[in-house]
Amino acid sequence: MAIKRRDGIVIYDSNADFAGMRKAGKVAAECLDYIAPYVQPGVTTGELDDLCRDFMVAKGAVPACMGYHGYPKNTCISINHVICHGIPDNERKLVDGDILNIDVTAIVDGWYGDTSRMYYCGKPKIKASRLCEVTYECLMRGIDVVKPGAHFGDIGYVIAEYAHKYGYSVVDMFCGHGVGKVFHDAPNVMHIANKGTGPVMEEGMIFTIEPMINIGRPDGIILQNGWTAVTRDKSLSAQFEHSLGVTKDGYEIFTSSPKGMDKPPYKIG
Ligand code: MF3
Ligand code: CO
Ligand code: CO
Repeated sequence: MAIKRRDGIVIYDSNADFAGMRKAGKVAAECLDYIAPYVQPGVTTGELDDLCRDFMVAKGAVPACMGYHGYPKNTCISINHVICHGIPDNERKLVDGDILNIDVTAIVDGWYGDTSRMYYCGKPKIKASRLCEVTYECLMRGIDVVKPGAHFGDIGYVIAEYAHKYGYSVVDMFCGHGVGKVFHDAPNVMHIANKGTGPVMEEGMIFTIEPMINIGRPDGIILQNGWTAVTRDKSLSAQFEHSLGVTKDGYEIFTSSPKGMDKPPYKIG
């Protein structure tokens, strides 16, 4: 049985509840595997969104984004200088060299599996693929500090340290978040922080880590649609996201790719 701490962070049962997260995380990860071959020049983000919706529904899952605080689509698809919450549409066709993040959340038996990856449309510029490589490494370094007794700030510390080494900046206007039986819960998981700050991790916590890393300045602005964040300086931005749980001595990732397609380039077929 799950209990809520005084600071609002929920401690889940690391057996029964993690089993629920495994199922939801698997559907979300499978959806990101499934969509990879469709990321090609000429396809619209709206078409990719439809495909992801159909995939999740066929697996018995509910796409969590649709209707969430009025959000109009099933996924977020964020191209090039879009930081996050790009809204799929039937206008924008992908072109060779685009890099994009596809973010899906699948609800299975009330559990939310939230994950995103970068994709290359055709052949990316070296600058773009290097950003994606470093951003993936930021996510995995952040995950690797997770264990009982660690502080949430330790995650942001290692992420920012690594990103800054390449001259990149870390977006601080969005955070990772508690997840589980709800989409967005306490705590806020900062992607730039000081070591030893923030709440202490305990076995049974479930949350996301989802660093957004920019080539240029960290500043973002929200477009007129009220959702989409873009870099103020129009520099490229990348993001990867996993949902994970704190175990007795470390962590369990719920959204790993069943096909080993955790970062691009993806070998199709
Ligand atoms: N999946 C996003 C996250 O990582 C949230 C998207 S909310 C939406 O937290 F409404 F924009 F879909
Ligand atoms: Co998330
Ligand atoms: Co997400």
